[in-house]
Amino acid sequence: MKGIVNKSADIMLIPQPSALDFYSGIFHLNNCIDIYTNDSDLQASAKFISASLFKDKVCQQIEEPANANISLLLKSSAKQGDHEAYRLIIDDNGVTISASSTAGIFYGLQSLNQIYYQAGDSLPYLVITDSPRFAYRGMHLDVSRHFLSVEFIKRYIDLIAFHKMNVFHWHLTDDQGWRIEIKAYPKLTEVGAWREQTVVGHTSNSNVHFDGRRHGGFYTQQQIKEIVAYADQRHITIIPELDIPGHAAALLAAYPELACDLDNKNFKVQTRFGIFTDVLCAKPETFEFLAVVLAEVAELFPGAYVHIGGDEVKKKRWHECSYCQSVLATLNTDDYEALHGYFIEQVEAIARKLDKKLIGWDEVLDADVDSSTTIMSWQGIAGGKQAAIKGHQVVMTPVDALYFDFYQATSCDEPMAIHGLTPLKKVYEYEPVPEGLTVAQQKNILGAQANVWTEYMSTPSGLSIWYCRG
Ligand code: ACM
Ligand code: ZN
Repeated sequence: MKGIVNKSADIMLIPQPSALDFYSGIFHLNNCIDIYTNDSDLQASAKFISASLFKDKVCQQIEEPANANISLLLKSSAKQGDHEAYRLIIDDNGVTISASSTAGIFYGLQSLNQIYYQAGDSLPYLVITDSPRFAYRGMHLDVSRHFLSVEFIKRYIDLIAFHKMNVFHWHLTDDQGWRIEIKAYPKLTEVGAWREQTVVGHTSNSNVHFDGRRHGGFYTQQQIKEIVAYADQRHITIIPELDIPGHAAALLAAYPELACDLDNKNFKVQTRFGIFTDVLCAKPETFEFLAVVLAEVAELFPGAYVHIGGDEVKKKRWHECSYCQSVLATLNTDDYEALHGYFIEQVEAIARKLDKKLIGWDEVLDADVDSSTTIMSWQGIAGGKQAAIKGHQVVMTPVDALYFDFYQATSCDEPMAIHGLTPLKKVYEYEPVPEGLTVAQQKNILGAQANVWTEYMSTPSGLSIWYCRG
C-alpha cells in the first residue's frame, strides 16, 4: 500500500475506531467471495458473512489463505484485557480481520459492514486498529409501555451489534404491562400482560381520552431462550429488568396480595403513564414471591446481572401500612428511604443466592444500598459520580443526554415525544466519565447506555429504525 490518504469524509464509522488510516487504492469485491478462516471457532463468523453481510456473493470457504478475498484470523497472541480488540486491513490481498477472540473478529466484521454500507463493492484500502474504551456499551428498550414482537427485538439486537454495543437492557415489566412468562405465577401474564386501553395523546393532557383498544402481549420462556441465544451469537448480553418495588401496577393487578393495602381489590394494569402510588409491600410474602420469580429469570438469562429497577418509588403506602412501619421500627429510623434500602437488600440476598449481581436505578443510592449493587445513573451525572466515589460500579445513562425518547430536533414535524431534547450532537458528544474523579474512581465507570422508553413509541416505525439497514 502507498502512503496514507485523507478519506475520512467519505467513510464514517460509529463508534470511531481507535486508529483508522486510509491508503490510496480500492479493493473491488467481485460476486464470488472466497472466505478463509484459520480456526474452527470462526465458523459462526464465516456464516455471518455469508448469511448477513454479503449474502449471495459468497462462493465458498477455502483452505488456502492465498486465494481468499476475506480472511479471518484468530491469533493466540492475546493481550490481557483486550479481548474485544481487532485489526482490519483492506489492501490488494482483500480484507483481513485478525483478533484474539471471536468477539474481536465480530467487531471487525461490523466495521466491514459499516464500510460496505457506505462504499459498496469498492472498498478503500485502509488499516483499522480498534478496541473499545468501555467494557459496558448498552442499549435499553422498554417493552412494557408498548409490547414489541420477537421479530422486532431481533432486529433491535442486530442494530445494537452494528454499533458494537454489547449489552441489551430489556425493561420487561412496568405499570402498563408485565411481559415475561413466569411459570410459577401464570397470572403475571394472564392478567398483568394486558391493559384495557391506552391514553391517546400526552398522558398529562387535561382533556384525557383513551383509544378503547386492549393492548398487550408477553414473551414465552421459549421465545426468551431464542432471543438470548440470538443475542449471544452477536456477543450481546441481555440484562433483564423487573422494575420493583414501584412501577409494579401490572404485578399488583395480577397478585394484589403483595400490596400494603389488602382492602384494595381494584388494582389494574395502568392505561395512563406516570408514577403511581401503589408499590410492593416489604412483607415476607413479597420476598418469597420474588425469590421464585427471580429464580426463573436467572435460569433464562445467563448473564451476570439482573436489574431490579428501584426508581420513582412513592412511599405513601408504606407510611400507611402497619407491617411496613414495623420493619422501619426494627431498622431504628423513621426515614422511609431506609425501608427502600431494606427492600433492595432483601432482593440482593435473593440474587446473591442465584449467583447474580444486582443493578438498580440511581434512586437506590438514597436507600444506601450495598456497594456491590451496580448503579445506573439516570437522573443526571451526580448520582453516577457519587456512586463511583462510594465504590459502586456505575453505568452512565443520564436523562439529558441519553434518553432517546426525548425530542431529537426542534423541527415542528418531530413526532410527539415524552418531553426534553436530545439532538444527535449532544448524544455523540456525551462524555461518560464525570469530571473530578480520581483514576481509581474513574475505573468504576463501566460504560454508558442509551434508553428507549416507549410511552409514545407504539410501533417499530415509531422507533424510527425498522427500515434502516444494519
Ligand atoms: C427512569 O427513567 N425512571 C429510570
Ligand atoms: Zn406494607
